[in-house]
Amino acid sequence: MEKIRIGVIGVGGMGSAHCRSVKSLSETELTCVCDINEEVAKSRGEEFGVKYFSDYKEMIKSGLCDAVIIATPHWIHPEIAIFAFENGLHVLSEKPIAVRVSDADKMIEASKKHKKIFTIMFQRRTEPLFKKAYEIVKSGAVGEIQKTVCIDPWYRTQAYYNSAGWRATWIGEGGGVLINQAPHAIDLFTLLGGLPKKIYAKTRTKFHDIEVEDEVSALLEYENGAWGYYYTSTCEPVGPFHMEFTGDKGKLVIRGNTLTFYSFEYPISESIVKEESMWGSLAYTEEKIEITSNIKTGHAAIIRNFARAILFGENLIVKGEEGLNSVEFINACILSGKKNKLVELPVNRKEYDDLMEELKRSSKPKKIIKEERITDPTFLKK
Ligand SMILES: NC(=O)c1ccc[n+]([C@@H]2O[C@H](COP(=O)([O-])OP(=O)(O)OC[C@H]3O[C@@H](n4cnc5c(N)ncnc54)[C@H](O)[C@@H]3O)[C@@H](O)[C@H]2O)c1
Repeated sequence: MEKIRIGVIGVGGMGSAHCRSVKSLSETELTCVCDINEEVAKSRGEEFGVKYFSDYKEMIKSGLCDAVIIATPHWIHPEIAIFAFENGLHVLSEKPIAVRVSDADKMIEASKKHKKIFTIMFQRRTEPLFKKAYEIVKSGAVGEIQKTVCIDPWYRTQAYYNSAGWRATWIGEGGGVLINQAPHAIDLFTLLGGLPKKIYAKTRTKFHDIEVEDEVSALLEYENGAWGYYYTSTCEPVGPFHMEFTGDKGKLVIRGNTLTFYSFEYPISESIVKEESMWGSLAYTEEKIEITSNIKTGHAAIIRNFARAILFGENLIVKGEEGLNSVEFINACILSGKKNKLVELPVNRKEYDDLMEELKRSSKPKKIIKEERITDPTFLKK
């Protein structure tokens, strides 16, 4: 079978796991790696037996690859992706595609202009639980959504934040929990429930010695008047991850690895006015779907889908333009938190760029860095 020749850019942490996935798939061949840190580039090049570069432009122009996987810190994803598109390569970008909506717009525009495949490492979309949830919502069984909830707790130590100079700084990362840990859940939350029209968020730095947020609480309002609540933090050691979508016809609850669907006998909007009994309730059926999966992670599935989209026109699991939704959501929360105001989506590009410039100017280099390059184990163990 013809193989897509892939180069991985940023191979210190997550990128090295992607190199292993690329090597393991029948549709892909790892032909080169790149890291701005020459030592890292050399050691990965030698480990995988491929040519290595320390300048991504050189690698992209080398003719050694048809496509790139970008696994550098987030700020530079757009610059690299746009350069790759302009030079005729397909792109798989790590999440988030960009720190700012204005940069995400430019990436999406470039992929369209140069007619190249663009996808994002939102591997949780490949999990059977979310595939099932998507199927239920798309079937119309939930009905028009009236209320959403997303609670996404994480736990990160100060040592984690001290493990690289770019982490948890405005200049190096462009945000805290929202831009790093939260994009996966926000992607799924907006995929299932849509993007809110207005967000009012509180953001704060609760327990860590960092300049960006480690806790967020937000009220959401959707186009149809539905309300929602969103919470994330890196200060909460116990889950579970929780999402719910209440519609007129049913309610979908995701809690840890369990999906429960409640199907109402009648739509709420009808039964609430027609029911004659004072204490009447609305009957429903409950279906609990426990999903255990033997998939190690969805990373390889996303890479395989990327290659198959290039080779055979397979539909993308994550279309590049869908990467904008989580960035809109994140930017709206940060803008709202910083300015203490209700923010309307789409986020005002100029206002957000101005805010980021201001935050970057006040960004201070980290005092303590004990560099460690270990890929987030929660993404590898399942
Ligand atoms: N999808 C997932 O499950 C998942 C998990 C972890 C990280 N990530 C994402 O992967 C990205 C990288 O995170 P990480 O934890 O691997 O970080 P890391 O710091 O461990 O590795 C990033 C690497 O990129 C290199 N780099 C920086 N600038 C570069 C440039 N201009 N050109 C080439 N290389 C450059 C660094 O030297 C480093 O080796 C982030 O965007 C993060 O959000 C995704």
